[in-house]
Amino acid sequence: MEFSFVKNQTVQKVSMTVLVITLTTLIILAILPIYYPLRKYPSMLKTSSESVAPPYHAAEKLIKVADDDDGDNKCDIFVGEWVPNPDAPYYTNTTCWAIHEHQNCMKYGRPDDGFMKWRWKPDGCDLPLFNPYQFLDIVRGKSMAFVGDSIGRNHMQSLICLLSRVEFPFDVSDTEDDYFRRWKYISYNFTVAAFWSPFLVKSQKAAGEADLYNLYLDEFDEKWTSQIQSFDYVILNAAQWFLRPSIYYENHRLVGCRFCQMGNITDLPMTFGYRRALRTAFRALKSFKNYKGITILRTYAPSHFENGEWNKGGDCRRKRPFRSNETNLGGFGLESYLTQVEEFRRAEKQGEKKGLRFRLLDTTQAMSLRPDGHPSRFGHWPNANVTLYNDCVHWCLPGPIDSWSDFLLHMLKMEGRRSHEEMLQRNRKQKMRR
Ligand SMILES: *[C@@H]1O[C@H](CO)[C@@H](O)[C@H](O)[C@H]1NC(C)=O
Ligand SMILES: *[C@@H]1O[C@H](CO)[C@@H](O)[C@H](O)[C@H]1NC(C)=O
Ligand SMILES: *[C@@H]1O[C@H](CO)[C@@H](O)[C@H](O)[C@H]1NC(C)=O
Ligand SMILES: *[C@@H]1O[C@H](CO)[C@@H](O)[C@H](O)[C@H]1NC(C)=O
Ligand SMILES: *[C@@H]1O[C@H](CO)[C@@H](O)[C@H](O)[C@H]1NC(C)=O
Repeated sequence: MEFSFVKNQTVQKVSMTVLVITLTTLIILAILPIYYPLRKYPSMLKTSSESVAPPYHAAEKLIKVADDDDGDNKCDIFVGEWVPNPDAPYYTNTTCWAIHEHQNCMKYGRPDDGFMKWRWKPDGCDLPLFNPYQFLDIVRGKSMAFVGDSIGRNHMQSLICLLSRVEFPFDVSDTEDDYFRRWKYISYNFTVAAFWSPFLVKSQKAAGEADLYNLYLDEFDEKWTSQIQSFDYVILNAAQWFLRPSIYYENHRLVGCRFCQMGNITDLPMTFGYRRALRTAFRALKSFKNYKGITILRTYAPSHFENGEWNKGGDCRRKRPFRSNETNLGGFGLESYLTQVEEFRRAEKQGEKKGLRFRLLDTTQAMSLRPDGHPSRFGHWPNANVTLYNDCVHWCLPGPIDSWSDFLLHMLKMEGRRSHEEMLQRNRKQKMRR
């Protein structure tokens, strides 16, 4: 299923040569300050939940929620095209404070807003637009963790903004560290948490090197694994940081490196470290006695530098999505994606034996079609001294990343349906035994 678009696109050689995704591309993520604090919501000090009245409530009827009786479980929601949606967006930088500075593209003068006005249309069915009330009803009394890098944080902030039509969460973090936040939706007793772990495994900056990391590929990153057991949903993501120069350790021994440029250490492909890290993250979740959550792997979201690399004048200035026959995924993106899917399948199979659920949030095709959705040079003021001047990695808010919550809600609804069916099945079996 997930492979179909890859195959398609390899067959169709109408490739876009300007799309440059090089190995060095994402080293920027090392240099870019990654985690800016969410701005404080002014009403946060008030205790009444009425003080966080949903700003968009009146417009609620504008959100066309397609009927849920699609009944076509066979439709792959992750394969499709972007189609116009003149009603979007459903929040702005004035109604939602959770937009990260560098993704507040309108603030920094992005002149066009057409990039917000699309929705994802799977081939053969419809994906309902995000309904914040329905989402909050489903997650009532539950908790959701985002574990990974700044693109995972980008997703979480998009979710908070989409939910802001109903309620803003309170900051209930038990630390001052901006990389580890916890938010609570009081009326729904729903908790969202962010755990910073761009490699998913134990890592450490190498001493004395500007951009070199020691990765302990078989060791848990306890900053998240020690906290994760009680979560109902864990959304994992990682990829880009594995492009950085790193030294790989396994079983406490140096096994090689990637791009470390030390003659005495074997250079290994990026997928070596990446595959093992994914495996270790999944192994952590499988090893916990008390973990009963649903593990969701969010797949690779491509960057779109054209006419140069990130540090050589590359930029992303398109104003429209591609159609699926206009681009294809290759190089690092394809390698990461295939590695993710393989390791996911492996974890899913092993998880099944333990009654654990693993799901794939397969955003890769949809996002590969959105060269228009990045901040480009509108992630900061024009004269700002920033390392990544044109950001073609993260996603503007509002913007195409909002559709990840459409996918997510759909998955949660399917989950409900599945467990209902499983319950019916159990009941039938019990009756038959009697
Ligand atoms: C929101 O965007 C507008 C441009 O659309 C900009 O003028 C304003 O400063 C931004 N406000 C915030 C709070 O980011
Ligand atoms: C809130 O949800 C948590 C689980 O996330 C549960 O343990 C707790 O009892 C709930 N509290 C209320 C008041 O329902
Ligand atoms: C590789 O060489 C560097 C010096 O060039 C040295 O510091 C390091 O310990 C060596 N590593 C191994 C694994 O031999
Ligand atoms: C892609 O498909 C669309 C619609 O099917 C078609 O109009 C267009 O010409 C195709 N583009 C390319 C580059 O093949
Ligand atoms: C930009 O910042 C870097 C380091 O933060 C500094 O080395 C450089 O001189 C600055 N450039 C300008 C033009 O201010």
